[in-house]
Amino acid sequence: MLSRSQAPVLDDDPFDPEVLVDPYPFHQRMRDAGPVVFLARYGVWAMARHAEVANALSDWETFSSAAGVGLADFRKEPAWRRPSLLLEADPPAHTAVRKPVLHLMTPKTVQGLRAAFEAAAEELGEELVARREFDAVADLAEVYPIRVFADAVGLPEEGRGPLLRYAGMVFNAFGPRNPLFEAAFAEAAPVLEWITAACQRDALAPGGLGAQIWEAVDRGDITADQAPLLVRSLLSAGLDTTIFGLGNAVFCLATNPEQYDLLHADPGLARAAFEESLRYEAPVQTFFRTTTRPVDVEGTVIPSDAKVLLFMGSANRDPRRWGDDANRYDIRRRTPGHLAFGAGIHVCVGQFISRLEGEVVLAALARRARRLDLAADPVAKPNNTLKGFRHLPVRVTAGPS
Ligand code: HEM
Repeated sequence: MLSRSQAPVLDDDPFDPEVLVDPYPFHQRMRDAGPVVFLARYGVWAMARHAEVANALSDWETFSSAAGVGLADFRKEPAWRRPSLLLEADPPAHTAVRKPVLHLMTPKTVQGLRAAFEAAAEELGEELVARREFDAVADLAEVYPIRVFADAVGLPEEGRGPLLRYAGMVFNAFGPRNPLFEAAFAEAAPVLEWITAACQRDALAPGGLGAQIWEAVDRGDITADQAPLLVRSLLSAGLDTTIFGLGNAVFCLATNPEQYDLLHADPGLARAAFEESLRYEAPVQTFFRTTTRPVDVEGTVIPSDAKVLLFMGSANRDPRRWGDDANRYDIRRRTPGHLAFGAGIHVCVGQFISRLEGEVVLAALARRARRLDLAADPVAKPNNTLKGFRHLPVRVTAGPS
């Protein structure tokens, strides 16, 4: 059996901003080096091929989330916030709280949000296409989810400002204490105070997802101590992910005009176009797990108590799974099996909500604009977990054909 010394050792820093904004050459080197590699800089193991990432995500008993899904090990150093009851937990505690949250977000319950989401997408699409040039991040991706998702959760309209700063803290904190981490945590205190207050019962509009989580307390499904943390999970996990995802989808379409032509000809492909962009430019690139026992992965033994970095963004472009054109954006591809939403017991609870957002936004653009082009070079937004853009200037040409 191979031991660590025999596993390929790479010196790269996966959290170097240059790697974060263009990780694909590094991904390929990891995939080609072997099913498991050792990243010497942080003393962690990593998997970048589809089969091994999918297996690890599906084996929570070996690859635990309870020590945190970032580089920090909660059993050895204090967590920066009370750990998430969902993301940073294992069964049985995880199972008990996931059930009531999942119940709110089945494909069927999410249909109840469709009319409001569509109306908001049509209104924004109309305004942006009339402008001809806009920033697909600042004017679209950052605007739409804050409007519709925060409404769905039941946050008051005023004072949503700190949402993005909080999300920036959450996703940068999964990485090392590098400058991205430090910048996200500059002036953290008021943001933390805000999020704590925003998740309380009296701060949430009746009928929203937040209020419905609190109703689970009345039914005895969860405790009053758990409810605000579960509302916090929606606000931490539901915004930046979708914001980066929408920006990435527009980028994919603007840089693959033949794919945009297909979408414009049949806006019914909007959901597929969004799904393929999740595969091709996964907003959530990585999460860690911690091993609970020594585990043999294809002949390499990872010891117990080791941090393992899973590269979903790389798995989504692994030619072993997707074929020789894995690096091609193709909205007619069959995408089931992509890992942008994870897999196994932690698979994204909000996936149907974000799919709905992606679908209605892309359809609203595709129906109104016959061309979509970059108007200037995009500006990437490095983040220790997410991949996407800070600015994405685009130009649209209105008209049916
Ligand atoms: C494009 C948008 C999104 C992406 C790419 C995404 C991605 C992910 C991924 C990869 C995981 C798995 C984490 C793990 O295995 O450790 C996850 C979990 C989660 N997501 Fe999402 N997500 C998105 C949107 C949302 C939305 C809109 C919500 C809220 C409604 C949400 C709430 C959650 C929660 C609460 C978890 C933790 C589930 C658990 O641990 O059981 N996400 N998401």
